[in-house]
Amino acid sequence: MRIDTAAGSILCDPWVNPAYFASWFPFPDNSQLDWEALGQVDYLYVSHLHRDHFDAAHLRRFISKQATVLLPEYPTSELEDELRELGFTSFRKTRTNEVVELDGGLRVMIQALTSPTDGPIGDSSLWVEYDGVRLLNQNDARPTDLSVFAELGRVHAHLLQFSGAIWYPMVYELPQAAKTAFGKQKRERQYDRTFRYIDDLKASWVFPIAGPPCFLDEELWQFNDIAGDEGNIFPDQQVFVTEYAKVGGSNALVLLPGTVAELSADACDVRQPVADVADFFARKEEHLRAYQERQRPVIEAAKASWRHPEVDVVKELKTRIEPLLEESTYLAKGVGGPVRFDLVGYDGETVESIVVDFPGKEVRRYADEKVRYRFRTERALVEQLLHSGEIDWVNSLFLSCRFSAARIGQYNEFVYAFFKCLSEERLQYAEGWYDEHERATDAEDTRLGDWLVQRRCPHLKADLSRFGIVEDGQLTCQLHGWKWDLASGRCLTSAGHKLRSRPAEAPAPEPVTKLTS
Ligand code: FES
Repeated sequence: MRIDTAAGSILCDPWVNPAYFASWFPFPDNSQLDWEALGQVDYLYVSHLHRDHFDAAHLRRFISKQATVLLPEYPTSELEDELRELGFTSFRKTRTNEVVELDGGLRVMIQALTSPTDGPIGDSSLWVEYDGVRLLNQNDARPTDLSVFAELGRVHAHLLQFSGAIWYPMVYELPQAAKTAFGKQKRERQYDRTFRYIDDLKASWVFPIAGPPCFLDEELWQFNDIAGDEGNIFPDQQVFVTEYAKVGGSNALVLLPGTVAELSADACDVRQPVADVADFFARKEEHLRAYQERQRPVIEAAKASWRHPEVDVVKELKTRIEPLLEESTYLAKGVGGPVRFDLVGYDGETVESIVVDFPGKEVRRYADEKVRYRFRTERALVEQLLHSGEIDWVNSLFLSCRFSAARIGQYNEFVYAFFKCLSEERLQYAEGWYDEHERATDAEDTRLGDWLVQRRCPHLKADLSRFGIVEDGQLTCQLHGWKWDLASGRCLTSAGHKLRSRPAEAPAPEPVTKLTS
């Protein structure tokens, strides 16, 4: 998205090349836009380092190095370092939730989210104001609260994610019926969360953005939402508009590559690059098949580059991961058991099993033991991760969806948090974050129906007085859809994360002093 004002232009997250082992492509195809012209901008905003937002090859080739980068306040300098590598030299470092006055009356504010589960070590939203017109590019960030933006005056355009951007539940080795049921729940949760955000901000216009991606490799083609599968988590913009209308929403506008929306305080005029937007989406499969044909050589070339038979996988994993296991307290404890990787050889048959043993703090061959998590993927992908020194397997392997997974028990966020922190800097940050988070006492309660529960969600501190829903003795936090059993406080979604809860009429428990050694 490019924002043009008389006081300057801002290019946001220009993504064109496939991401995550050539699995995600932008939808619709935006490669035909005049990027030479679009890249001549005053400011660049890259919300975070996920590869469908940070497209290094595209930034290097097309975006003016004269542009000033509007930098979110992140705990590590990775985003700035990567942009410097690409040739950007001018940076405007922002502070989270503080308005920055740029030249000519252009005002911006970036809210940076910094938990280890936000993007790869951070995700952000950009607020822009010019001449009394305000826009929030919330993107795929999940703030617990939009009030900081609402307080700056009526927002005229709210751009936010509504579709899926994860591997769940598709990659899990489950019966198809269970997968469909989980996918359906997830799809509904995504809509509910989006509606909640829209309702919080009450902007004049809503733009569903930041997804869905499309999958052009035939191996992943089934993830495109074209077969009427109600368990598909990647609904498109037009489907969202229809769903939104069902809850009374009539202010949604669709942006396609090439759409121009002229925004003022009381109107939004939209010029679309196609004669009929609904018809474009009705013929989505045709668009995707033609796009697939154009991208076939790109996918083939990518696949040919992953194999590195010279890499000794077990040895390399030992060298990279064991020192991190040694240092890890919270994440290792959170994972709590061995994690197994089954690597399928080039012949598609031979399988080599390797275990990352979190309690034992070692990487070794699988010894016929019980494991909590098992991943199955191609050996070539892991060779490529090791060959390139990838420190974030979420931002590469897992988001690629080129794996399958099985687990015993609940989802364990620590597994993925660990594999996105395969560097000293990231691991230290994540460990510190969990430590602080764990220690932070949050004494305030809120009443939800007949229950008193702690006001802040045990997951990532959403305000449960706004995001919490109580039904059949269970609490659901709508921010990420996690659930708790209210009677016991037990988290039903993930290990740990106990909730403080009691019936509203019951007396408050005696205060307990927690001693830690
Ligand atoms: S903050 Fe994530 S589920 Fe509540």
